[in-house]
Amino acid sequence: MDPVEARDLYPITRQYIFMNHAGVSPMSERARAAVEAMAGQLTAKPLTSPLAMEEADRLRESLARLFTCGADHIALTRSTAHGISLLAAGLDWQAGDNVVGARGEYPANVYPWVALGRRGVEFRMADNTGGRVTPESVLELVDARTRVVALSHVEFWNGYRVDLETIGEECRKRGVILAVDAIQSAGALRLDLSRLPVDYLAAGSYKWLLGPQGIGFAWCHPDLLPRITPALVGTASVQDRLNYFSYPTDRVDFETTARRLEEGNPSLLDMAAFAASVDVFLEVGPEVVERRVLDLALRLAEGLDRQGYEVIGPWPRDAGERSGIVSFRKPGSPPQEILRDLQASRIVGRIHADFVRLSPHFYNTEDEVDRVIDVLSPQAALQP
Ligand SMILES: Cc1ncc(COP(=O)(O)O)c(C=O)c1O
Repeated sequence: MDPVEARDLYPITRQYIFMNHAGVSPMSERARAAVEAMAGQLTAKPLTSPLAMEEADRLRESLARLFTCGADHIALTRSTAHGISLLAAGLDWQAGDNVVGARGEYPANVYPWVALGRRGVEFRMADNTGGRVTPESVLELVDARTRVVALSHVEFWNGYRVDLETIGEECRKRGVILAVDAIQSAGALRLDLSRLPVDYLAAGSYKWLLGPQGIGFAWCHPDLLPRITPALVGTASVQDRLNYFSYPTDRVDFETTARRLEEGNPSLLDMAAFAASVDVFLEVGPEVVERRVLDLALRLAEGLDRQGYEVIGPWPRDAGERSGIVSFRKPGSPPQEILRDLQASRIVGRIHADFVRLSPHFYNTEDEVDRVIDVLSPQAALQP
């Protein structure tokens, strides 16, 4: 599907210039219709098959196509933190082990690791240099007791894209797990899990994947999967899940696929919406989506730079360091004022700390980006 054609699927575009996909995104018309159809089915018909299991498998298949991985290596979760916590809680830690993260990460990728302190695990944070989380700063904290390096693919505050290739290759050499919070990249940037040197990746659906809050996924490398002991256990986690009577009571025979990390059926309504959202990405194509996201974000950043705004660093940045997030500020203009000007023109962004963050998606247009730049131009401020 052509991205311009796909724009019509997002009713929000008729009322707003929506550029807060790094926050909470709108859903498509198709996702709404899928939820309604599912609700209709649930209210009018008796279930004749294990519908939730079928829908979960269908969603896993779609995610696997989008991220070039095996459907058996995907678990459905409720949130990014849920996915990360399953890994954090499921490894066999020894007191004295450590996890290396980065300062300034979104807390969903910090608290699950800090919470391991009670098991004697240390959480270390790499500093960023001018907004860059570099392989050097991360790897210099890795030592013989490091079990996991836990990083966002894209930093939520400045949109810096971390070099997962270099960090992952090095982690592989040292036998360290690379776990990635991908909520700020999945759906915006192409994620080819058949070749990224990543061991575990988690994301919620409600940002760049344009799904609802309350559902997400975790992908686990097949070599790592058997090493994670499910922290939450129920019928979904086991091999013989439909055996309600003659089950063993002296052991749990965990499912060998990533479904072992699911304890029960995920929400049918959330799965309906998420699956419909993922299908749009498959139809438009992840390469097309990525190209548009990066082009629009660059056009926005360059335009703001020309208008005298300070793009939050590093700026300018290399192609491999870019994402869909553009954060900026202007000395002397409180971010609340900037946001007010944007809101007056029905442009949706958000404030973090002392800056404004905008995050266009593939269905935004060059005209919308230019409109944002016009609204924030010094000339616009002079107009009565
Ligand atoms: C990098 C990052 N991770 C995670 C989240 C959200 O976490 P969760 O899905 O657990 O609510 C956000 C939301 O802003 C984020 O920016």
